[in-house]
Amino acid sequence: MKKKIFSAIMAAAMVMSLCACGSNTASTAPSEKASEAPAASSEAAASESASSAASEAAPTGGKLVMATNAEFPPYEYHDNDKIVGIDAEIAAALAKELGCELEIEDIAFDSVIPEVTSGKADFGMAGMTVTEERKQSVNFTDTYASAKQAVIVKEDSDISDIDGLTGKIIGVQTGTTGDIYASGDYGDGNIERYSKGMEAVQALSQGKVDAVIIDNEPAKVYVSENEGLKLLDSAYAEEEYAICVSLDNKDLLDKLNTALAKLKEDGTIDGIVAKYIKSE
Ligand code: ARG
Repeated sequence: MKKKIFSAIMAAAMVMSLCACGSNTASTAPSEKASEAPAASSEAAASESASSAASEAAPTGGKLVMATNAEFPPYEYHDNDKIVGIDAEIAAALAKELGCELEIEDIAFDSVIPEVTSGKADFGMAGMTVTEERKQSVNFTDTYASAKQAVIVKEDSDISDIDGLTGKIIGVQTGTTGDIYASGDYGDGNIERYSKGMEAVQALSQGKVDAVIIDNEPAKVYVSENEGLKLLDSAYAEEEYAICVSLDNKDLLDKLNTALAKLKEDGTIDGIVAKYIKSE
């Protein structure tokens, strides 16, 4: 019996060390969540007293904090008071694999990496493109999606391809690869930055900018929801999305990669993507 209690405590401690590295989880997690901790439900299920020992040892319920910017359909966006989308659902499936509760934090896109490097969030998942520059401050998991930077223009625009962007005013979401690449290629003075992709698209509809460079899937959503806009046929850049983790948290990186591989293998990720992106 003693041994069981001990192993339950150890299991709970392990869950805590993996899941509870976000912001002040010990004091903020609702206490009833402790009973959902896997250590309490699996290992300790054999004995009542062991189970309560595990609950005490894991008061956080094992929480993983994800930083995102929920202005990016179909990857993450608000549906009434919920954050939904491909990333939100993959993250929920990953958290489940890791035996953690998931908390999603919605912040500005250019704050996602700082939130992770400062340890306030455990990981960042925001349709985030893997870049060499970002790799200087965070580790990326294996990739889970391919993407493109697309160009949105007005239906009657004289811009017909990427070359036509030279000298035009381009709207982007601040800190995105669209922002970074376009500033480099077309000059900072030609870039208008918006805190949300949707605001850049509205500026295009109002004629304040000549084009918007943004990831292909959100671009398709915005074009379908706003009259008079179209996508250029040619993409501006090819990219891969991954989850970012603090350089110090190799343990979480490895566990996320293992869980991602499993969810790719068993079709979970394809299923989630198919729910949000209808094949043409
Ligand atoms: N893929 C682009 C990047 O990594 C844009 C991501 C924007 N994501 C968001 N949730 N707003 O820079």
